Amino acid sequence: MIRVAVTKGRIEEEFIELLRKAGFDSTPICNKGRSLLVKSKDNIEFIFSKSNDTLKFIDLDIVDLAVVGKDAIIENDTETYNELLDLNIGKCHLALAGFSNYKEAKVIASKYPNVARKFFAKKNKYPKIVKIEGSVELAPILKIADGIVDIVQSGNTLKANGLEVIEKICDISTSLVINPNSIGLNAIDNFIEKLGRVVC
Ligand code: PRP
Repeated sequence: MIRVAVTKGRIEEEFIELLRKAGFDSTPICNKGRSLLVKSKDNIEFIFSKSNDTLKFIDLDIVDLAVVGKDAIIENDTETYNELLDLNIGKCHLALAGFSNYKEAKVIASKYPNVARKFFAKKNKYPKIVKIEGSVELAPILKIADGIVDIVQSGNTLKANGLEVIEKICDISTSLVINPNSIGLNAIDNFIEKLGRVVC
């Protein structure tokens, strides 16, 4: 039995497609409804979690593999995690966004305070960074912040809230992260190899 933590949300559908292409039993995931843990016929247990928790499950040594966005990895510290494979799904980018009249930011809101801090520090700028857990686009509208650092995929959320990209920070996709204690196990190698074959 191997255990894989999958980040809930936009990655899920594309990941299921990869599993299917690789020949794994994806039916339990497709039919999971609100279940947070399902087992496949191939002896794989899938756990569905929020991105920071997906990485926490690696830290806690309770999953072998994690399917998680690079945004969460960068925010938590890239050095810590063994990224085996870029799954080339969930593609989006991190960006600084604001209203069209954005000038200089005194306050930035973000789900990614570390990314935001580093981005501005490279420019020798040190705005106050306010951590917001979700719907970050609200912050400029409510005048909590002058701009936001967030994920942009279609750009629809920015547009719908009157915001725009001021500067792209970096491209993001989804990584397969391995627990160091699971490296070299046969079942894990087999899973990675099959998945690797269908990654575009
Ligand atoms: C993310 C991100 C943006 C949105 C961007 O939020 O924080 O709000 O998606 O996607 P788009 O460019 O395709 O519109 P998510 O939907 O993950 O939820 P959250 O706001 O609760 O974090």
